Amino acid sequence: MTHHGLFISFEGIDGAGKSTHIAALAEAFRAEGRPVTLTREPGGTALAEKLRAMVLDDAMDALTESLLIFAARRDHLVRVIAPALLRGEVVLCDRFTDATFAYQGAGRGFDVQVLSTLERWVQSGEGLLGDPSGNQPMRPDVDAIIEPHLTVWFDLSPEEAALRLAGSRVPDRFESQPVEFFRRVREGYAARQAGHSERFARIGAAQTREAVWADMRQVFVEKGWLQAVALP
Ligand code: TYD
Repeated sequence: MTHHGLFISFEGIDGAGKSTHIAALAEAFRAEGRPVTLTREPGGTALAEKLRAMVLDDAMDALTESLLIFAARRDHLVRVIAPALLRGEVVLCDRFTDATFAYQGAGRGFDVQVLSTLERWVQSGEGLLGDPSGNQPMRPDVDAIIEPHLTVWFDLSPEEAALRLAGSRVPDRFESQPVEFFRRVREGYAARQAGHSERFARIGAAQTREAVWADMRQVFVEKGWLQAVALP
């Protein structure tokens, strides 16, 4: 784990409403003079965005899907996330590996042991931070992996999320899944929080947008990463 920069990921089922809050948080950091890299998964590089289009649009089995997502993640880590952290930036990433455990693991029912193995290979800190080209041999034996310092989980019931998504746009391969799928994904996030409680902050996303923003800002103020703002 690098001690430079801040790596923050944002999670939640489709429709939980994380996008506007991520953009507002980027503005809040920039207003305090911190350089921000705003990015997303799958995606964040030219190659990873191509893989994203395949994952969201093309039919495939769960192993293929997981491999493509982790391939996109590796490219993203090598080219964007690790260099930005080494420059001392704040990296705000819309989804990261918790989404893979929630969607592919809990949602699709894919083997979480395989996902854990891929996580160790892809997020191996040795190869990434020692050599920005990412060309060093993998060291799956090294247990220091690059992972977020903080993961903000926007938690919303699948029923509420479905109401928010209804009619908003043409659904992709995930958005078109039934409520039952998102119930499992939500349980997947809850399990990840239970296993990684030190880096998880759960925000109740059923509140008004203003209340969600206030809760999220408070998390960053309590960590000392943003200054408290005086109430008007
Ligand atoms: P999302 O982040 O919701 O972007 P948008 O707001 O543009 O729809 O979409 C990404 C989709 O990819 C989302 O449905 C979850 C899915 N996904 C996975 O299944 N596994 C993963 O590891 C990641 C990062 C995303």
